[in-house]
Amino acid sequence: MTESCATKTAQRDGRIVIEDDWPGYSLDLFTYPEHYCGDLESVYIPHGVIMDRTERLARNIMDDIGDHDIVVLCVLKGGYKFCADLVEFIKALSRNSNKSLLMRVDFIRLKSYLNVLIVEAIVDTGKTMNALLKYVEAFQPKMVRVAGLLVKRVANGVGRLPDYVGFEIPNLFVVGYALDYNEYFRDLNHICVISEQGKMKYKV
Ligand code: IMP
Repeated sequence: MTESCATKTAQRDGRIVIEDDWPGYSLDLFTYPEHYCGDLESVYIPHGVIMDRTERLARNIMDDIGDHDIVVLCVLKGGYKFCADLVEFIKALSRNSNKSLLMRVDFIRLKSYLNVLIVEAIVDTGKTMNALLKYVEAFQPKMVRVAGLLVKRVANGVGRLPDYVGFEIPNLFVVGYALDYNEYFRDLNHICVISEQGKMKYKV
């Protein structure tokens, strides 16, 4: 029997921590595209949980920087779903509050920006984020914040942790919610763990 998620997760430093022994949910409990039958091991984070957590990150961001005009920089391609959902939640909060936030969304193509929110789906070693931060900071923006949906617990992680973290996860490879394995699985709504069969099938 699959154990309750509550026994395998904890809340630390304003993020949800998924422990190493979390097996994920059985695939039988959810729906997913038929063409991935046999290619997945488990549903690691269901889509609804991702959305609820993203809504809360949007609120934290609004509380912190809702008084500034911001440029949201989306790190492609894996970050596009998280970025789109995060921006929608921020817009909804902005509509329903007395804060009027001017927000532009851009991709990594910089001019001079005042306040920047970098949105990345997953931080692994942190090298990508480090390089990006260096690049963005060269334009001397007034403020740079980073939102990361997932941060992996890796031994030799480099650089700064995102200011807003959805979930801290063990050092394993996950797919779905725009995260890919050789360009496959981006069309999966849940974040899942890939099976050995899946790894073989989509190997390049
Ligand atoms: P880093 O530079 O090691 O932090 O790696 C970050 C990049 O690696 C992300 O933007 C993803 O494109 C990719 N990546 C790292 N881990 C995963 C994973 O578990 N699933 C899918 N992509 C990943």
